[in-house]
Amino acid sequence: ALVALGVFVAAFLLGSIPWGLIISKVFYHTDIREHGSGNIGTTNAMRTMGKKGGAAVFLLDFGKGIASGFIGMGATSFLTGSFVSYETLLGIATMGCTLGHIFSPWLGFHGGKGIAVAIGALFVCWGPAAACIELFGIFAVLVALTRYVSVGSIASAALCPVIACFLFWGDWGAIACYFVTGMTVVWAHRGNIERLRAGNERRVGSKK
Ligand code: G3P
Repeated sequence: ALVALGVFVAAFLLGSIPWGLIISKVFYHTDIREHGSGNIGTTNAMRTMGKKGGAAVFLLDFGKGIASGFIGMGATSFLTGSFVSYETLLGIATMGCTLGHIFSPWLGFHGGKGIAVAIGALFVCWGPAAACIELFGIFAVLVALTRYVSVGSIASAALCPVIACFLFWGDWGAIACYFVTGMTVVWAHRGNIERLRAGNERRVGSKK
């Protein structure tokens, strides 16, 4: 249990680094939270700082997800005789960094929405093939079809526990972690859900 707690705390702290805010402050001398949707993620970084700023935020957020996955993987060698499974420990890493990003203590527990960081972690924790289903099979397809990034995000988050069931059926600890991760990401999009229902969600490419 100590290993699991250690992985959670380490991933949470890594996840909590608000790259979107840091990049906007350091390179654009502005606070990304005062522009567009006010979110610190890739979509709003693209919207307010352009392609370069957006790409930087994506790579850093995605990277902290990947790094958290590797923390989980590295820690599995300390799992001796523990009731926490290998897959559950990886689930804890994914959940930890995603929750750290969404509830960043450095931003008064108001962080981002967790998609880039979660999918980054899944590339390690699920392996590239399964993570590509999330990134390209669900997210990218829906963004391309609807022109709403949030629709792709919400659908891939909602389907995260479903895919986890296919991958880890029987390992309820792991499935619970992916359930919490997916549902928290959906919850983080509650403002987007309201805007989608009201018909005033921002489409890809719109600057406002
Ligand atoms: O994952 C974030 C995206 O789904 C929505 O971003 O800035 O439009 O709220 P934003």
